[in-house]
Amino acid sequence: MMQQLQESAEYLKKHIGDLAPEFGIILGTGLGALVNELEISHAISYAEIPNFPVSTVESHSGKLTFGHLAGRPVVVMQGRFHYYEGYNMDQVVFPVRVMKLLGVKKLFVSNAAGGLNPRFDTSDLMVITDHINLQPSNPLIGKNLDELGPRFPDMSDVYDEHMVREAMVIAEDAGFTVQEGVYVSVPGPMLETPAEYRYLSFIGADAVGMSTVPEVIAARHMGMPVFAVSVITDMCTPDRIKKVKLSDILEAAAIAEPRMTLLIRELVRRS
Ligand code: HPA
Repeated sequence: MMQQLQESAEYLKKHIGDLAPEFGIILGTGLGALVNELEISHAISYAEIPNFPVSTVESHSGKLTFGHLAGRPVVVMQGRFHYYEGYNMDQVVFPVRVMKLLGVKKLFVSNAAGGLNPRFDTSDLMVITDHINLQPSNPLIGKNLDELGPRFPDMSDVYDEHMVREAMVIAEDAGFTVQEGVYVSVPGPMLETPAEYRYLSFIGADAVGMSTVPEVIAARHMGMPVFAVSVITDMCTPDRIKKVKLSDILEAAAIAEPRMTLLIRELVRRS
């Protein structure tokens, strides 16, 4: 595994020359427009990179884009790998581990999620303050990669408190509110039944989605500080559940996208 990661990192280093990304950004479903704010130096399709899995979801474009955001060197994943696509957890987190080998110091993650907290609304942003992992596996199972991190990594403070507070200030200065809460990660790809939404709410989650937690676990294993934000694309409280179409999720994500982009851009600027 380490050899594969190193091969991918070496390939990328050759292509990006002296642009050493300091920050890694993973963009969720319908949330790709942040790249329009980048001064792009290189865009490398996943298919070109040795050992990289290839993205299959139509709404993801499958590129690693290098450039500057707010004047800082970043690498952006346009399109991520989900467990429900049939990838194993090693594949899901492969790019995050490669980012670490490229020298990335902090990880920023976005996703689309269903709202479980009744105070939320469609197109709200929720800064993730903690998570619950209900994926059927996780990327640390198996032989520990000692070069990357310890066998039993601590998970008592997964989401960087300083960045959470900074995000609140940025939002307030920009004139919008953001929610805070707990994200629960489920395997999908089906959405939840009303009974499942009730259950997820009962166990303490404010939003539910099908991604993020594996990548975040891998990042924390490697000691990378993490900031993550959900865009609430549909409300899942008993009185507000309706049939969800991908087009509705994309529409709700598009409305929230400029706020999410601003939040990540300004956090990168201040990092
Ligand atoms: N459930 C799970 N994942 C999701 C949802 C949801 O309601 N909305 C967007 N991603």
